[in-house]
Amino acid sequence: MAIPKGRVLEESVALFKRAGYDLSATLGKSRKLVHDCGDLRVLILRSQDVPTYVDYGAADLGIVGSDVLDERGLDHLYEPLDLGIGKCRLVVAEPKARPFDERSQIHLRIATKYPGLTRRHMQRRGVTAEIIKLSGSVELGPLLGLAHRIVDLVETGETMRANGLCEVETIAEVSSRLVVNPASLKLRSAEISQLVDRLERVAVVT
Ligand code: PRP
Repeated sequence: MAIPKGRVLEESVALFKRAGYDLSATLGKSRKLVHDCGDLRVLILRSQDVPTYVDYGAADLGIVGSDVLDERGLDHLYEPLDLGIGKCRLVVAEPKARPFDERSQIHLRIATKYPGLTRRHMQRRGVTAEIIKLSGSVELGPLLGLAHRIVDLVETGETMRANGLCEVETIAEVSSRLVVNPASLKLRSAEISQLVDRLERVAVVT
């Protein structure tokens, strides 16, 4: 099973504990990327790579944000469960001190890690924008004049606040999903069904 490192890993360990699986070995300071946790072998990955491992069958299943799934358009992966963890929002934001005037003739530039979702959202809204793809620390974009606005995730709101940005609108509510390789589901049906059932009983989806 592939799990993204960072905040979602801690929430996953807590959720799996309630479901009767001990994944605590993944939380140490070790640089190990593979952990044998009872019957489960856990791979620690970047969240963007989780669907790739599951898609190719290198992992039977994985935990990944709906933001990553929607950006990649990976709707052929079996997605049995919203795990109710990793909750955040994908938003459009801009500098509090320099709001962008949509009626102006200025060509809007948006920096983001999510060019696909951003493009689709702007098309739906009928807004023409140049989308600049970044890999992280997106909040810096408007501060240095690279972009007028950003599209990024907000969880606590602390990063936006610390960088003088405010939200313009919410594009999507995000949460982590369990995804399963379709072939694995057939070949290891009993094991995977048991895991899905146990998780379903403890996942809190609001
Ligand atoms: C995410 C996101 C925001 C931040 C939001 O970044 O892209 O920058 O967390 O969280 P907050 O609302 O609780 O402050 P991440 O920490 O994954 O780093 P990155 O931007 O370098 O990818």
